[in-house]
Amino acid sequence: MLSFTKELKKRRLRHLINWDAIPKHVAIMMDGNGRWATRRGLPRTAGHFAGMKVMEDIIYVSHKLKLHYLTLYAFSTENWKRPAVEVEYIIGLINQFVTEINIHRFNENNIKVNFIGDISRFSEDTQQLMRSVIDSTNGNTGLTVNFAVNYGGRAEIIHATRAIVAKGTDNITIEEFGKYLHTVDCPSPELIIRTSGEKRLSGFLLWQAAQSELWFTDEMWPSFNEYLYYQAFYEYQQRKNRA
Ligand code: FPP
Repeated sequence: MLSFTKELKKRRLRHLINWDAIPKHVAIMMDGNGRWATRRGLPRTAGHFAGMKVMEDIIYVSHKLKLHYLTLYAFSTENWKRPAVEVEYIIGLINQFVTEINIHRFNENNIKVNFIGDISRFSEDTQQLMRSVIDSTNGNTGLTVNFAVNYGGRAEIIHATRAIVAKGTDNITIEEFGKYLHTVDCPSPELIIRTSGEKRLSGFLLWQAAQSELWFTDEMWPSFNEYLYYQAFYEYQQRKNRA
């Protein structure tokens, strides 16, 4: 929940932001779940659970603000190196998140869901759930949410290169190459947000981030909220106005 002061600042920011010029595609690196939990004497899994709740809020805020695309880094290719219990817990949360109840809510709100990354490494049941939410929300025309799972930007570029070479095309342009990436149907993100004070891309959307504005906050992902989201939009617009 937002504190009283943050609520006031949020209201002020709401008037300062040009809502006709907010980014159409925002990508978020939801970092710091583990630290958020450890600092509170909780198991890391509690941080992931809290992170999932914030993620859900931010999806619906993005819908309310009429963003076109939201890409969320939920599970990187590096995350497999974590203890098995933690990996299983995060995958369990992903499974939980793509249940019938949520599919119903996505459809009610015209939200389309997609997964980017190599999903073949997940169990058949998890892949089935992912395919089911993709198929069930495919006709929606509002916000598209891309969950990046088993995603790594370098792996994506190699995958695209193999596909383009296999096709034997001579027409290798930036535009053509983009058609072989997982984000084929999306424009590049104008804004990439990373929480937890880390200031790296860590392989996230390496190709697509070429022209993106990067915005960092020291807050851990479970402490992210609508006010910080507005702050990111505001600073994004300040930079664009200066350019
Ligand atoms: C980074 O924090 C977060 C993750 C690796 C997992 C993100 C997952 C969720 C927000 C919830 C599940 C997602 C879906 C799609 C339902 P960290 O563990 O790296 O934190 P640390 O840097 O403090 O260790």
